[in-house]
Amino acid sequence: MYSEKVMDHFTNPRNVGEIADASGVGTVGNAKCGDIMRIYLKIENGIIEDVKFKTFGCGAAIATSSMATEMVKGKSIEEAMKLTNKAVAEALDGLPPVKMHCSLLAEQALKEALEDYFKKNNLPLPEGFEKPDAEHEEIPEEA
Ligand code: FES
Repeated sequence: MYSEKVMDHFTNPRNVGEIADASGVGTVGNAKCGDIMRIYLKIENGIIEDVKFKTFGCGAAIATSSMATEMVKGKSIEEAMKLTNKAVAEALDGLPPVKMHCSLLAEQALKEALEDYFKKNNLPLPEGFEKPDAEHEEIPEEA
């Protein structure tokens, strides 16, 4: 059912943890399955210097958050903004159709974290910045 890459990122997830002085934090949850994901970004000079995540969720959610963090680490904000859940799923050699929605959690948490960074720095949302429509809702940081 799952590709080797999914199994690898599920059993050995990269970038798990927190960043104490994060530049931006994004937390999203899926009301249906109850899964929650939080992504922390450390941004310096427009580059994502570090990224960490915590996911309380299914294997596909853990694998996609692990892969998503790998894909944006060291990249510019502009590049990270363009990351889609489809690209993450492709990098994992695919997800079963019923698990595609789990990958949206990773894309949305990343975009919430970027938005948090823009807001904290009083920066306007860049042109082309879009958050996916999803069943996932933003969860306030204090939650
Ligand atoms: Fe909830 Fe996968 S089943 S994110």
